[in-house]
Amino acid sequence: MTDVNGSLIPSGSLVDGPRVHGSVYRNPDIFQRELERIWYKVWVYVGHESEVPNAGDFVRRQIGLQPVLMVRGDDGKVRVFYNRCRHRANLVCLTETGNAEKFVCPYHAWSYANTGELLEPTFDEGYNYDLDKSRFPLVEVARQDSYRGLMFASVAPEGITLTEHLGPVSEFIDMFMGLSPEGEITLDVGCQKVRYKGNWKYMPENSMEGDYHGPFIHKIAFELYSRSSGLDVSALHEEEIPDVIRSLPGGHMVEDYRGAPLFKRPGEPSAARKEYAAKMIERHGEKLATQMMGTMAPLLFVFPNMMYVMTHIRTVQPVSVGETNSYYYPVMLKGVPGEINAARLSDHQFMFGSAGFVSPDDVEIMERNQIGMKAVGDDWLFIGRGEHRERDMPDGGRSGFTMDETHLRGFWRHYASLMEGGA
Ligand SMILES: [Fe+2]
Repeated sequence: MTDVNGSLIPSGSLVDGPRVHGSVYRNPDIFQRELERIWYKVWVYVGHESEVPNAGDFVRRQIGLQPVLMVRGDDGKVRVFYNRCRHRANLVCLTETGNAEKFVCPYHAWSYANTGELLEPTFDEGYNYDLDKSRFPLVEVARQDSYRGLMFASVAPEGITLTEHLGPVSEFIDMFMGLSPEGEITLDVGCQKVRYKGNWKYMPENSMEGDYHGPFIHKIAFELYSRSSGLDVSALHEEEIPDVIRSLPGGHMVEDYRGAPLFKRPGEPSAARKEYAAKMIERHGEKLATQMMGTMAPLLFVFPNMMYVMTHIRTVQPVSVGETNSYYYPVMLKGVPGEINAARLSDHQFMFGSAGFVSPDDVEIMERNQIGMKAVGDDWLFIGRGEHRERDMPDGGRSGFTMDETHLRGFWRHYASLMEGGA
């Protein structure tokens, strides 16, 4: 088969050890196959329950290309519905976020309770049979489950459980949630939206390998951050640390900094920081609390669309093979002094805001990647860094050094197994 750029798509696997074929970023047929075999099959992250704290609260989301709604009903339960009227399939909800006692389809005004039941089909005397309302509720996405407030859904009626899907990555989710002395986070300070002209897979790849590209595209950002915060982060790049880069079964990826040297924070800690430290020691004990507060929480990617990146939860949502939306939700910690969350938000804006010093450069790089990928030549990418020294871990994953591409290889192994029909 010839690809859109005239190159030949191999008849065999598109992933070959440390090599990935360029067509996976570029070919519309492959994108269609991804929808069928990945997005409409596996568990996809939808949102966090703190985004819908009150009865009637809702957010609009997508699973693959399918529009859905995450709603907390009057009964207190959070559900994920298809955003589609049972009458003629119009969107029943147009607003991105809000509160609704009921959803009224704008087309012919059929209305639904926030728990999904059809309340009223309009002009129902015109139907030539006794319309049974219970036949037409908003349709719930087939499978739904949550982990620590993170709501996931799968449009496939059957498959592995969420617990099986998450596997050992749940331990890393626990770690960033453990930054809250109450073990709870909230996503309630808004959302930043990014749209880029590039394939969706660049985002997880780029987001989880900042240690390798950081010294090049984020050089100035790191210098500025060190100067303004007094924290020297350069040590992360000066000497590579083993077991930082982790691939986990299921295509999940982690950057685990537990073995990294502790940041040296200059000066006397503020009263708020002292209070935070005391609460963390109370929850985790002195040793673990010191380690958690002195290093970066693990960066993680939950296959196929959710990331935790330093300050925020990030999602990736494909639009087409060459266009992607991404959403950044700053993570606020429950039970900490206001100053701590304010500092988190300020760090977030500094690095990842639309005028920040890190994320805009990543987006630029991803767009250039999509253009470079059009070139016909040797169409295989090479992600072989650290292949000779990666080692098997007890959790079934593999680990590598700080700048290795071990996790990317794990992601692509899982991707290939799903695309070739695996579970
Ligand atoms: Fe980056």
